[in-house]
Amino acid sequence: MAEAIQATAQTQFPPAKKTTMYFIGMTTGKSSIMRVFPRWAEYLKLGDVLIQGIDCKWHDDRNVYRRVVDFIKNDPLSAGALVTTHKLDLLKACRDMFEYLDPYAQLMGEVSSISKRPSPHPLPQGEGERGRVSVWLRGHAKDPISSGLSVEAFLPPGHWEKTGAEVFCMGAGGSAIAVTSYMMDARHGANRPKRIIVSNRSAPRLEEMKEIHHKLGCPIPVEYHHAPRPEDNDALMHQLKPYSLAVNATGLGKDGPGSPITNAARFPEKGLAWDFNYRGELVFLDQARAQAKERQLTIEDGWVYFVHGWTRVVAEVFDVDIPTSGPKFEDISRLAKEAR
Ligand SMILES: NC(=O)c1ccc[n+]([C@@H]2O[C@H](COP(=O)([O-])OP(=O)(O)OC[C@H]3O[C@@H](n4cnc5c(N)ncnc54)[C@H](OP(=O)(O)O)[C@@H]3O)[C@@H](O)[C@H]2O)c1
Repeated sequence: MAEAIQATAQTQFPPAKKTTMYFIGMTTGKSSIMRVFPRWAEYLKLGDVLIQGIDCKWHDDRNVYRRVVDFIKNDPLSAGALVTTHKLDLLKACRDMFEYLDPYAQLMGEVSSISKRPSPHPLPQGEGERGRVSVWLRGHAKDPISSGLSVEAFLPPGHWEKTGAEVFCMGAGGSAIAVTSYMMDARHGANRPKRIIVSNRSAPRLEEMKEIHHKLGCPIPVEYHHAPRPEDNDALMHQLKPYSLAVNATGLGKDGPGSPITNAARFPEKGLAWDFNYRGELVFLDQARAQAKERQLTIEDGWVYFVHGWTRVVAEVFDVDIPTSGPKFEDISRLAKEAR
């Protein structure tokens, strides 16, 4: 297995020797996907393909993102990428490099999937390189789909309608935008949270999220809180009604140390605690486990999210059909679990 490439604005990426999918993240070499992908590739008959990690720093320089995307776009055997953590920053830096962005990517200003297709307008002989392109670079935001599938996998049916519970989402990054947008979608009718509370360490992300929610019509009350200290998140958590869902969408416990709350925070009674991550210290889930019995909590890590998130992007990058449920999806989940 090749080591992850630490990207800089000067990195000379080695041209891929066989069809390669990239994983753009922070500590990609530690992800289970490095073990899972070869098994999926065999099961899905993708051929002789590779996965390669590319690590960027948290909120990296825009030229780093441009370097990475330029390489993938122009290297013939580089097929595409899954983007985590950098979804918003990468699209902000590279928007002009994409020939196609799906409606979610346009609305949410993020991409989790980068893929390529031959240009629908073939080039006349002699034309190429600059000007018109022979390859279309496509960006999709798959998180609204994969986070929705993941939350439905652990929430009891009709949970919001039956309980009148709320959601507290710590973090206002790409995945938080996706999951909150999913939950407020009109298609759920009366089965939507009574209120959504979002907090973020820095203020600008909250503004971006607010704008996106506004475009969606914001059909349920949403509060946006600037919460630079864990104690701020504790205070917001203490407002939650029983059966509410508290989400760690900050990456803390994996991308950074610790948790967005202190040990003094009390989870809502009969509530649900969900960390978007499944690896790392996962301090937030330890904090929930310490109260699980007393407060009757349901605790969920990011494993199912991982399986849905990756399969949606693999399907796009390799242009294959992968179901989201049923026997084939069960096989894919089992293979991932065995290799985890
Ligand atoms: N299981 C899976 O397959 C899966 C799928 C998607 C995402 N994830 C994970 O979920 C995490 C979030 O992903 P993302 O793409 O949304 O990342 P992101 O865009 O970097 O968002 C993280 C957000 O959390 C905020 N934050 C950090 N510390 C905080 C605190 N103490 N209180 C409140 N907000 C805080 C950050 O604020 P600033 O603006 O101040 O930095 C940032 O806006 C990542 O670790 C990612 O790997 C896992």
